[in-house]
Amino acid sequence: MSLRLACKPSPSIVRKSVRRCHLLAIFAFVSLALTASAIAADKVELTVDASKTGAKIDRNIFGQFAEHLGHGIYDGIWVGPDSPIPNTRGIRNDVVAALKAIKVPNVRWPGGCFADEYHWRNGIGAHRNVTLNPNWGEVVEPNTFGTYEFMDFLDQIGAEAYVSVNVGSGTPHEAADWLEYMTAPTSTTLGKERAANDHAAPYKIAYLGIGNESWDCGGNMTQDYYVNQMKIYSRFVRNYNPAQQDKNQMLKIAVGPGGSEPRFVDWTEAVMKAYQQHTWSWDINGLSMHSYTVVRWQDKFKSLGFSESEYAQFLKETSSMDGLINQYSAIMDKYDPQKKVALVVDEWGSWYAPLPGSNPGFLVQQNSMRDAILAALNLNIFARHADRVRGANIAQMINVLQAMIMTDKEKIALTPTYHVFKMYVPFQDAMFVPVTFDAGTYTHENISLPRVDAIAAKDTNGNLWLEITNIDPNQPVEIEASLDGVTAKSAVGETLTALKVDTVNTFDAPNTVAPKPMSVRVQNGKLIFKAEPKSVTVLSIKQ
Ligand code: AHR
Repeated sequence: MSLRLACKPSPSIVRKSVRRCHLLAIFAFVSLALTASAIAADKVELTVDASKTGAKIDRNIFGQFAEHLGHGIYDGIWVGPDSPIPNTRGIRNDVVAALKAIKVPNVRWPGGCFADEYHWRNGIGAHRNVTLNPNWGEVVEPNTFGTYEFMDFLDQIGAEAYVSVNVGSGTPHEAADWLEYMTAPTSTTLGKERAANDHAAPYKIAYLGIGNESWDCGGNMTQDYYVNQMKIYSRFVRNYNPAQQDKNQMLKIAVGPGGSEPRFVDWTEAVMKAYQQHTWSWDINGLSMHSYTVVRWQDKFKSLGFSESEYAQFLKETSSMDGLINQYSAIMDKYDPQKKVALVVDEWGSWYAPLPGSNPGFLVQQNSMRDAILAALNLNIFARHADRVRGANIAQMINVLQAMIMTDKEKIALTPTYHVFKMYVPFQDAMFVPVTFDAGTYTHENISLPRVDAIAAKDTNGNLWLEITNIDPNQPVEIEASLDGVTAKSAVGETLTALKVDTVNTFDAPNTVAPKPMSVRVQNGKLIFKAEPKSVTVLSIKQ
């Protein structure tokens, strides 16, 4: 058995020559030693210290981003009340049902780059102005999905509003009027106008984004210019909703970095320094950070039909999210040691080449098992930084970039990333629980990465949850999890895996990648189970 195991292809052996296998056979004792170490590497021991809890994993790290881009809004959410596709006031029922199931905490809207060219008056009332969308394919923007429709959509899925106002081509006056329109009582002219447009009650606006990428598509501003704008918008763009005055106040999120380059360091320093010196008249509660997993912007990687080499490169790239958060947390700590300002990663996810035949401005890509792994790794990074990262919005919710859902007319497919978000629902607002483990190594060509990742948390009912990601596309891992502070009686869970790393769900085969129940053995208080190759597993531990 040992000789056969030594010759069996494994990540470390698979590309080595047959000659090496023969050598192993000849030197049996070497083979035995190698086999023993291979078996040891196949097992990962974890300790979940349930006697300790860390920061709360804010449910807002599971936020979504919906921009007027490609089919993200039109066709993805909005089909109009006269559509044969089942809808409620123009909003797709199938999409609403799917999003309700993942308990979307907030949706960032209307952009993105689109936000800095959005004029809210085009999207209210019975008559909508038809404009263009110069950022994304120069297509016609009918503005049929505007404030009322966005808020109706949020109501239907049970999420909160994260509205990004136009700092680039708008004015503080325009943004202040929009907020007044959305939140003021009907005793004001703008409040009356809202009531005339079918919504008498003030809307709740939980988050206000003060611009988007103001260092780039949001106006190519210098940091000093932006800081001045930020103060003005923070001061004058008011929320009048009576229910948001003392409690549930609207949180204001300033533009932060978009990478690790020196210009973003300077930008972050400038914003945070201004925050440190802020007076009673203005404030911010969050700093945005954008970080896509791209590898290279020119000749981007494909989202379908890729090699293990591209898989490994992509996961290596995505792991840099941790370093980026460390880098900017350190700057924030300098000016805000009490961590009052949240780091909000309000654009993240994979960005691949557009699917052949699609409009390149629509950012259409497929979503494979690789994206599910990437999502889990990033969510785990956010959870480990839960004291500072209190918001994140994956880009983007439907039909764009790393989407939850793909639609094509009446058809719908939930992506592998969707399933990860669903499996992670128990982690929303749960308390972080430390897990220690030696992850082992997954090596492909010149890339070596931790083979296993894991987080644990205690939910609001005191239930313990454990998540395990095995990034190795070829080898399963035997997991042996010890628990400190609790005695496990049983554990049940689900695992998401696929035949290949580039396996996807299509409209014709929408359930190819879907979570399956998995079995866990409890022995001497330890949880013992196999984490399949390229898998994401979430377990509920019964005590
Ligand atoms: O998500 C697509 C675009 O990426 C957003 O509009 C912009 O903010 C970012 O550059």
